Amino acid sequence: MTFEPKILGFLCNWCSYAGADLAGVSRIQYPTNIRVIRVMCSGRVDPSFVADAFIHGIDGVLVLGCHLGDCHYLTGNYEAEIKMNALSKLLDLINFSNRMRLDWVSAAEGNRFAQIVSEFTNHIQKLGPSPINKKKNKPEIVDGLQAVKNVLEDSRLRGLIARQRELVTDENVYGEQISIEKFENLIEEVIRNEFIRHKIIIKIKEKGKSVPDIANEIHIKASEVLEHIVVLRSRGLVDVAEINEEIPTFISIMG
Ligand code: FES
Repeated sequence: MTFEPKILGFLCNWCSYAGADLAGVSRIQYPTNIRVIRVMCSGRVDPSFVADAFIHGIDGVLVLGCHLGDCHYLTGNYEAEIKMNALSKLLDLINFSNRMRLDWVSAAEGNRFAQIVSEFTNHIQKLGPSPINKKKNKPEIVDGLQAVKNVLEDSRLRGLIARQRELVTDENVYGEQISIEKFENLIEEVIRNEFIRHKIIIKIKEKGKSVPDIANEIHIKASEVLEHIVVLRSRGLVDVAEINEEIPTFISIMG
């Protein structure tokens, strides 16, 4: 039996949704796997919505907006591009980035809408069902996606993403400007660190664990776990649960 993927599409009201509408009234054929959520602008799509969709078993997510330069709100699709770029880097860490696509469809491009939906549906069909829908390794995948969602909801990454355009195009108070390469490196570092920190928090949510146990569970070195625990303690998110034979265990104290 052919696998029929569940595809979620976020379509901006002014271009892509109108393009989808045109495809419909023009009777252009495309796969029926897509379910559409109309948003006012692609810039309105919070990356955490995409993570949430994956947590709920969606196999692929399409975000479609007006072509660059044509956004009804001028810069919304540029903002969407920045957000989805950061999201893609995060999803790379759990091998989900190829299940998401950002693209542009104008109100006059019914054919283009149908073509993108067909291509993306075929692509997801080839990838197979989302690993979250398989029993194998399910808890690990759920934890990974939840960590991605938590990073996306955390003010650290959000603040950086929100200031990207300002930081790479304007000078700071010292007359310095950050290059796009430097900014990309910074984003990658923040993404990796925050992802690991949120994975640690998830692992010690219910009960205290020692550094070696956490390291074992998330497959990184104990020394690295310890560095993150120090940061998390300084933020007031983690505390010592108990000390057994001089070995401390740590527990999340996030509200
Ligand atoms: S209104 Fe279409 S992307 Fe902003």
